[in-house]
Amino acid sequence: MSDGYKIKHHGVNDTANTCNNPALSDVLEARLSRRGLLQGTGALGMAGLFTGTFTTLAEAAQGVGTLAAPKLGFAPVPFGFEDKVVVPAGYTAEVLYAWGDPVGIPGNMPAFKQDASNTAAEQEAQAGMHHDGMHYYPLPLGATGSKHGLLAINHEYTDDGLLHVNGMNGWNGDKVKKAQAAVGVSIVEVEATGKGWQVVRPSKYARRITANTPIAIGGPARGHDLMKTEADPQAVEILGTFQNCASGPTPWGTYLTCEENFDGVFANESGNLTDLEKRYGISPTGAGYKWAWEDFRFDLQLNPNEANRFGWVVEIDPFDPKAKPVKRTALGRIKHEGATTTIAANGHVVVYMGDDQRFEYIYKFVSKNKYDPKNRKANMQLLEEGTLYVARFDADGSGSWLPLVAGQNGLTADKGFANQGDVVIKARMAADIAGATKMDRPEWIAVNPRKAGEVYCTLTNNSDRGKEGKPGADAANPRNANLFGHIIRWQENAGDATSTGFKWDIFALAGRPDAAKQEHVGNIKGDAFGSPDGLKFDQLGVLWVQTDVSTSTVNMKEYKDMGNNQMLAVVPETGEFRRFLTGPNGCEITGLAFTPDNKTMFVNIQHPGEPADERNDPAKPLAISSWPDGPKAGRPRAATVVVRKLDGGVIGS
Ligand code: FEO
Ligand code: CA
Ligand code: CA
Ligand code: CA
Repeated sequence: MSDGYKIKHHGVNDTANTCNNPALSDVLEARLSRRGLLQGTGALGMAGLFTGTFTTLAEAAQGVGTLAAPKLGFAPVPFGFEDKVVVPAGYTAEVLYAWGDPVGIPGNMPAFKQDASNTAAEQEAQAGMHHDGMHYYPLPLGATGSKHGLLAINHEYTDDGLLHVNGMNGWNGDKVKKAQAAVGVSIVEVEATGKGWQVVRPSKYARRITANTPIAIGGPARGHDLMKTEADPQAVEILGTFQNCASGPTPWGTYLTCEENFDGVFANESGNLTDLEKRYGISPTGAGYKWAWEDFRFDLQLNPNEANRFGWVVEIDPFDPKAKPVKRTALGRIKHEGATTTIAANGHVVVYMGDDQRFEYIYKFVSKNKYDPKNRKANMQLLEEGTLYVARFDADGSGSWLPLVAGQNGLTADKGFANQGDVVIKARMAADIAGATKMDRPEWIAVNPRKAGEVYCTLTNNSDRGKEGKPGADAANPRNANLFGHIIRWQENAGDATSTGFKWDIFALAGRPDAAKQEHVGNIKGDAFGSPDGLKFDQLGVLWVQTDVSTSTVNMKEYKDMGNNQMLAVVPETGEFRRFLTGPNGCEITGLAFTPDNKTMFVNIQHPGEPADERNDPAKPLAISSWPDGPKAGRPRAATVVVRKLDGGVIGS
């Protein structure tokens, strides 16, 4: 690898009845049906509720309060050391949609070429690289079925060593165009057939959103001076989204994709960085993607505001391939990990969000207006207006949501916050002033569908905690040199997601019981893991945890003999972690989705074959992994995998 191109990316189960896996969704359907939600425009609301299943379950839990704790019925798998996906006995895992597979656009379905010789134009009609956050939406809009739907899938970043025939050698504009086409989002139509789940091709829904797709600017940053560029003097439209990490559904059936390490594609070679650039990690050369060298939009000396147009949550309507996505700037500009939506009992929409960098914060947004299950069009505007908060965790186990509102909490004009546009564009700086708690890299956030107002967040690790000149351990981040990470949990006051106060505790300190150093032991009940990242509740209330041990560390050093990245299940009531899946060599496990009947789980295998420096040598692309194509592979490929029980039962049971 020539050093100028070094990359650094950073960063069941039953209900009470134990007979024959009753699908909770059926129970809910009956309840909702009784309330007339299945009729008329209510069908739309129904779809919304089921695409935002947390809401459904939360509502059910609140309304009835008798949903039994799910039980895990599978035998755990051991640590994984093989170049394959391993699932428990009685389960299958099949590849559905890998990097380079055609997305299914009518008349434009180029096949993947194993030597990576597909052009940029072909890549635009194929699956991107590095699959990440994902959600399943039953088809058609309004349906609740589990055999036919849409998958919205993030493609976080590229390994340019694999993406081009000879990697980054002979770097040029075409290679940049291909990289820009390999990130963003896929919308694919999928169907359960006699031969298992398949991507439907062609499909009228098939769509790729890339680093060049026109996206509207919504919210307080629309029209703001800091968002204006020569190409967009009114600050109303941005080209593209990228570094799309985690994601989340809304109850009205849209997809929130989240821009994380956007700073890495920009460069300001002058080295004269503004405070704003510094606070968001902008550097003279970026993370080694080299876009700025060929596409001057990413050269901050020429386009100083372009970086302000990234770091947002983007709302996409997967059901309408013509609908223009919108950057929802009211949710703040951070290195967004994910966006987890719930509907509070009072009808307001609440979105929880982590900012994944060492010592960054946890945020939530509360909508001004209320969710109306019968009015999808109105719901589409809910993320336009509301209050952004940031979390402070106090040592006594209580916590506060601090509003980030221009004119409040020290956010005054003389400090650079003359209006709410300033606040959201400079959200990190606003949170600094408000006094938020510096966390150990907030990743995914999950809302417990069985307990109103209970929320979990993975804090993946923070090797800098306690280092000289850095913050030391505190109550919410209790370990210095936190190599294994932890999962924090809070309970909003009175179970109300719009509350400004909460109680918190640490759900689990990840680690390994056999560690030499006490601080690496952790307190996990059950199977050992470290660096928790992906986190999602399934339809029945099982919490699934996916790990992202860096490829510079995986199965090495303190992680030696812990194998490849993995996925585990835990039921909050028992706190026992059980290992469900291990991935191929050099991968991260990230992104998962469930059908409403919880009988199909989609899991993403990100960057199989990734070396410690995060970019492959194109001369030996199969050095670490040839997953999923095996002997015929030219490149390892990120892919969505379908996991099912061989007996057709509920996942996890
Ligand atoms: Fe893209 Fe924080 O993981
Ligand atoms: Ca992640
Ligand atoms: Ca991570
Ligand atoms: Ca990764």
